[in-house]
Amino acid sequence: MYWKSAVGSVVVFLLACSFLKSLCNGACMNRESRLSSAGEKPDGCMDGDIKRALNTTWFKAKCITCSCDPAGELSCCSRVLEPILNDRGCTAILNETSCTYIIKRKGDSSEPCESWASM
Ligand SMILES: *[C@@H]1O[C@H](CO)[C@@H](O)[C@H](O)[C@H]1NC(C)=O
Ligand SMILES: *[C@@H]1O[C@H](CO)[C@@H](O)[C@H](O)[C@H]1NC(C)=O
Repeated sequence: MYWKSAVGSVVVFLLACSFLKSLCNGACMNRESRLSSAGEKPDGCMDGDIKRALNTTWFKAKCITCSCDPAGELSCCSRVLEPILNDRGCTAILNETSCTYIIKRKGDSSEPCESWASM
């Protein structure tokens, strides 16, 4: 009985996690980027070749916001959700000014792209 309900709650949790995927990991890429070895106090994060101070947030290209937390962990999140196109004849173009995707049909056709969803 106990075993059964324990398994049940794990399944519910996994389902809730995949359903609420955006709450579980969002459009974020978290990377350990410690500059210091374990136990040492970190003094920043490495974002590629650029060193960033702790407790800072900065913007990158492609509508990505990154932050360096007090523990020296880099976290980058996209401020837009990439649309999933069901129509292979269409393409999503990111407007980096407005941080929105423009859905366009490939080629010269002006036929609208109807089947797409963003999740
Ligand atoms: C970063 O923020 C944490 C929590 O607010 C604070 O304890 C820490 O001293 C801050 N570190 C720096 C380098 O500002
Ligand atoms: C991107 O968005 C900005 C602001 O809304 C707009 O002025 C610009 O024309 C857009 N660019 C493209 C390529 O659609």
